[in-house]
Amino acid sequence: MRTKLAAGNWKMNGTIASLDELDAMAEAAKGAAEVLICPPATLISAASARAENVAVGGQDCHGKPSGAHTGDIAAEMLKDAGASYVILGHSERRTDHDERNDTVRDKCDAAWAAGLTAVVCVGETLDQRESSNTLDIIGGQLAGSIPDAATGHNLVVAYEPVWAIGTGKVPTTDQIGEVHDFIRARLERRFGEGVGRSVRILYGGSVKAANAEEIFATSNVDGALVGGASLKASDFVPIIEALN
Ligand code: G3P
Repeated sequence: MRTKLAAGNWKMNGTIASLDELDAMAEAAKGAAEVLICPPATLISAASARAENVAVGGQDCHGKPSGAHTGDIAAEMLKDAGASYVILGHSERRTDHDERNDTVRDKCDAAWAAGLTAVVCVGETLDQRESSNTLDIIGGQLAGSIPDAATGHNLVVAYEPVWAIGTGKVPTTDQIGEVHDFIRARLERRFGEGVGRSVRILYGGSVKAANAEEIFATSNVDGALVGGASLKASDFVPIIEALN
């Protein structure tokens, strides 16, 4: 009932030449899973023109629809460039740009007003996990970052433990399952069973071809948000195939 989603976050990587990688990804996107690539904003237009069956997303947007905000990008501009998704509240934005839950919530409202699906990221630091605060942190981030009008269409949640991002360290499948089950329960409690069951929950943090299958077999994992291994088709296609 939930379409699996293989999402790639290119972060601050990629030039026009990198879009060559999309051809093989688009081939793999003919399977059952939906494929999403979130390149830097400079590539959104060209990426969406290049690969019809690959969805394209931004990596952030402003919380306001327009105005005097030098260097920022409004959700409507992402949409206009060909995006249908936007990643919000990634831990690198929360850390590098001091984004708090209420900032993320405003951005989510802006994304929804523009008709984009928001991929809202949540995740604990290593300190928070080691002090047994993981579920409290995730619960707070979910409550604070997601506005009330969530649906299975406008929202995707990505669980990305901060300590697993780009480190090669991956939680056990029990740890992933515990958090994904918790997120599902919180979504059902707040938005009702219908909506709560229809929102896709992705895992992100050092996903590779070698661990994808095991992670995808875990309870309430509907796909992945992949960083480093989404840059090259040779790394990302096997991850898409593990979902197909
Ligand atoms: O958003 C994806 C992400 O933060 C995971 O990055 O490089 O560990 O797959 P990576």
